[in-house]
Amino acid sequence: MSDTRKLIERLPKCELHIHIEGSLEPELMFALAKRNNVTLPYASVDAVRRAYRFGNLQDFLDIYYRGMSVLMTEQDFYDLAFAYLQRAQADNVRHVEMFFDPQGHTSRGIAFGTVIGGLSRAVADAGRLLGVEASLIMCFLRHLDEADAQKTLDSALVFRDKIVGVGLDSSEQGHPPSKFARVFARARDAGLFVTAHAGEEGPPSYVWEALDILGVGRVDHGNRSLEDATLVGRLARERMALTVCPLSNLRLQVVDDLTRHPLRRMLDKGLVVTVNSDDPAYFGGYVNHNFRAVSEAIALSREEIVAIARNSFAASLMPAAAKADAIAEIDRIAARGE
Ligand code: ADE
Ligand code: ZN
Repeated sequence: MSDTRKLIERLPKCELHIHIEGSLEPELMFALAKRNNVTLPYASVDAVRRAYRFGNLQDFLDIYYRGMSVLMTEQDFYDLAFAYLQRAQADNVRHVEMFFDPQGHTSRGIAFGTVIGGLSRAVADAGRLLGVEASLIMCFLRHLDEADAQKTLDSALVFRDKIVGVGLDSSEQGHPPSKFARVFARARDAGLFVTAHAGEEGPPSYVWEALDILGVGRVDHGNRSLEDATLVGRLARERMALTVCPLSNLRLQVVDDLTRHPLRRMLDKGLVVTVNSDDPAYFGGYVNHNFRAVSEAIALSREEIVAIARNSFAASLMPAAAKADAIAEIDRIAARGE
């Protein structure tokens, strides 16, 4: 095994950008379709994987929303999340801040309580049985209107103790963060952490809006920030973390080749970057795979890989003492030169 590969496996990590519905592997999709008598538009697991060719974000989202139609019961959401958390444990992920898309389910008649019940039970079991701590971040679908997001926040506040934050995802172009100013203000007032996808396909102005109007504590993706030197300066100065997703960017044609992935320029400009899987079942790899692929493509040094793992804890919502312990463990691994 190469030294880089070993280092990536040994380092403890946080995953800060994972859509739990995007971890639905075709095998589980078929099993749940059978359990729930749902007809899938695919003949086999292989046919599902062959359908995963995307020209852009919207191509992917159309397939992603269709895939989640097999999720119907509390047990389905539990099985989905627990399977991901087992996979995360295998990659030495210690802490996960997991996105979920309630509107993708409530719009199909699934109760909010069913979704949050299954996910939170999996989170509790993962802490106890796997040693992986996780928390839930509810995302609003930005292609829907703000009134729908407000209703979703009303439902979420009934389960306030089960979620730590809110995010913003789905079709970016034409749906700027400012469209959701009021609902994010309400979420902040409720003490929720705030993050948003920005600068994945959308322009740098969407990153400015995420910072100035939504008050985000992290930026999800943020790739196109690099087009605006003033914005880059601000992100670096404020040590604002970007949750970067290399294989997602490749598969959604946000980048044409991993060797030209913006992570290299982000690091060189002093940005606080993390590496994440986004929708691993659709994009072909979990977090270690993302680390390996991007490390090879842009020749990350050992120090850079270690710094990215450190950033993942620094940018997380973990308690300060647990963060310090994990960072000390990373520093011991780095010092041993393994
Ligand atoms: N929902 C799931 N994955 C997403 C992504 N990469 N961008 C926007 N919305 C998403
Ligand atoms: Zn995402």
